[in-house]
Amino acid sequence: MSANRTSVHGQWSSRWIFILAATGSAVGLGNIWRFPYITAEHGGGAFVLIYLVCIVLVGLPIMMSEILLGRRGRRSPIHTMAALAEEEGHSKHWRLVGVMGVFAGFFILTFYSIVAGWTLAYMARAVSGVFADASAQQTGAIFNALVSDPERLLAWHTIFMIMTVSVVSRGIKQGLEQAVRYLMPALLLLLLLLVGYSMTTPGFAEALSYLFKPDFSQVGASTVLIALGQAFFSLSLGMGAIMTYGSYLSGSAHIPRTTVSIGIMDTSVALLAGLAIFPIMFSVGLHPHEGGPGLIFKILPIAFGQMAYGNVLAFIFFTLLMFAAWTSSLSILEPVTAWLVEKTGYSRLRAAISAGVVAWALGLGSLLSLNLWSEVTLFGMTFFDLMEHLSVNIMLPVGGLLIAVFAGWFMSRSATSAELGLGNGAYLAWKVATRFIAPAGVILILLQELFGFLG
Ligand code: PHE
Repeated sequence: MSANRTSVHGQWSSRWIFILAATGSAVGLGNIWRFPYITAEHGGGAFVLIYLVCIVLVGLPIMMSEILLGRRGRRSPIHTMAALAEEEGHSKHWRLVGVMGVFAGFFILTFYSIVAGWTLAYMARAVSGVFADASAQQTGAIFNALVSDPERLLAWHTIFMIMTVSVVSRGIKQGLEQAVRYLMPALLLLLLLLVGYSMTTPGFAEALSYLFKPDFSQVGASTVLIALGQAFFSLSLGMGAIMTYGSYLSGSAHIPRTTVSIGIMDTSVALLAGLAIFPIMFSVGLHPHEGGPGLIFKILPIAFGQMAYGNVLAFIFFTLLMFAAWTSSLSILEPVTAWLVEKTGYSRLRAAISAGVVAWALGLGSLLSLNLWSEVTLFGMTFFDLMEHLSVNIMLPVGGLLIAVFAGWFMSRSATSAELGLGNGAYLAWKVATRFIAPAGVILILLQELFGFLG
């Protein structure tokens, strides 16, 4: 079916493990930390609706494209893009898509590792029992004490980066596969438990209508871009993570079906996170857009503090959230690591450590921008905000756009249809989505952001 190449890095043991690993990549801080507060900042239901449209019309076709390119090329994104472009008779400059992905990955890790560090810190807080009967003011103070202390943030950031490097350095079967096998099902269970609790709170009905009743008066000029960026971020698209995972996928796995499973799981977790968090907010009288990036860290502990065995549940929850962040950060570091191994012949260990050190050092900027450098801004954004905005809202959509254009316009029909294994009608649908809908969507949204023609 595929071009009969194999990856020097190895292969997933089964299609299921690939689905778990890719879901592990997709489900992360993006779903449980970022989705709720971004939704809150952009007015709720209307944002959710636009987000879902972006997932289906733009995200899924691009995810199929990333997996198919990765499996066809069987190398890290930079080398896969270069090899496929050459094979199909196009410029090798297509490798720049992979290069930009490497940068995007580093930018993402700068803030990802900091927030993942918060989850580690909160595991410790849960053990110490500070959430018992805590009010909204108290949980807010606990959060502020953490982010205003550079030394603590540094310790957690460093620990998380070491955790990420230590798994990536072990490779696919010994490292990545072992990490995702149990963690993902456990995370889902705990999330369901939290939603169960939220359903008993008085704010549940209000939260339902907040999330699912679109109020377009709240939709501002850049709402659509934010929703698009969030769709890319949440599905791990546009920077080569899924392409890299795809390069380890067996030639017999059905890419479209696999993609749909990953998309459904990722979206369900985001919506469930919303259903866990907003009811609690409404119940304690907090307004959604008050939260910001600290939202779940300030809100969920209130609920835990009132539950029987709340500290135990809080500990389990933050542990699982940390695992979710961990399985995602693996996929952010993996493309650069694989590229370094291919390019320099470094051992995996050396490559993973080198990439990890760079990401760690860049993370210091995000770390300090939360406290000592909080006044230092560029374009009105702190370093943390700038990294988040640039990578999520600009680099991922642009990367995804180029991937779609390459897969849709520059790959031969024989190659893409062999990889996708679709019947004629479904293949045509993928082609239309990849050639026209996804690129046009991204271009229009980016132009609108640049020139603001929708007002
Ligand atoms: N999808 C991950 C999340 O939702 C983040 C991520 C982005 C992972 C890009 C890999 C690549 O948290």
